[in-house]
Amino acid sequence: MRGLRPQAVAARIGEIASGTARFADQWPTGQDVEILPLARRALEEVGMRYLFSEDAPTLLPFASQLFLAREVLVRPSRWAWPRWVPTPARRFRTRQQVAFTNALRPIVRRRRSSGRLGDDVLGQMLRPSSRYGLLREEAILDALPGITVATFETPSRAAGWIMLHLARYPQAAGRVAAEAALLPADPAATTSTHLDSLRYTQALVREVLRLHPPSWLLTRRATRQTRLADYTIEAGSTVLVCPYTAQRDAREHSEPDRFRPERWLDDSGSPAKPGVFLSFGTGPHGCEGAALAMAMLTLLTAQTARCYHLSEPLEPERSYRLTTFGGLATAGLRLRATLRS
Ligand code: HEM
Repeated sequence: MRGLRPQAVAARIGEIASGTARFADQWPTGQDVEILPLARRALEEVGMRYLFSEDAPTLLPFASQLFLAREVLVRPSRWAWPRWVPTPARRFRTRQQVAFTNALRPIVRRRRSSGRLGDDVLGQMLRPSSRYGLLREEAILDALPGITVATFETPSRAAGWIMLHLARYPQAAGRVAAEAALLPADPAATTSTHLDSLRYTQALVREVLRLHPPSWLLTRRATRQTRLADYTIEAGSTVLVCPYTAQRDAREHSEPDRFRPERWLDDSGSPAKPGVFLSFGTGPHGCEGAALAMAMLTLLTAQTARCYHLSEPLEPERSYRLTTFGGLATAGLRLRATLRS
């Protein structure tokens, strides 16, 4: 998708940085705070602005409801209903999709009739492409609910893991803070050159995603009989791919269970090989938003570490519950921020 390509993301770093900076600005200091809702709200705003620019505020409440509908849908249930059964969760999801689409349709029509298509992702979708020509309105309306939730759902799960690591590895957090000190005071002035200079921060984000890939289980359908290692996979079979275990394989990653962001700075190391990092998937259906996700998470991490020391609550129980059903996540994660001097 054109609007999500690395070059398109690079051109909008100032805007993304302004949005991610609000996360650090809004974090109440000196108390334990549940962090995932804060991260989600901040990333939701960044993602929606990235997709829809000045139309984002109109669509934001509908996007939040879409997210909620997905959360309800993926919650474990005692019954595995066949796909065609309209369970309350499925009906709720359908209602939210219809509401989102009804809010988006007049925006699409207004942009088309005025000729002011916009330079955001929606604007790119409204322009003809060499591959698909001019997209029909229904195709755009069908694709955008999924893309909208993708901009903030998985990134906020990733942000939870990253914040937890900043709290648990103060030295690494200090190194991120030192890099972040070189960012401009006004986030809007941040450019792709600044982002590229955050090499350790990017490595830390990648290392957290290696150890805790939010999309920890992927599926592929074999379109024809295939040999894979010593197995014959029949046409039509579903193959499960688990980035979580693959990325902790000692054949590809030395000391695979250790949190060591430096491994990504050593270009000669095995992590540089293609296919050993699967957190964004791979192949034709790999993540289209990887560049946007890396930009958002790197900036959010740098800006947070620049302002705060993070710590886990002092009580003996864990600061979060591990959940796997909607993605690998730190549900209920609570952290405390104190100002970095
Ligand atoms: C840390 C953040 C993210 C992670 C870990 C992530 C992970 C993934 C993974 C693993 C897939 C492939 C699924 C598969 O192979 O079956 C995927 C697909 C996708 N992602 Fe992301 N994603 C992230 C953020 C984003 C963002 C910000 C967007 C922006 C819109 C996005 C848009 C998409 C889309 C459109 C696809 C479907 C690609 C296709 O089927 O052709 N993702 N993502």
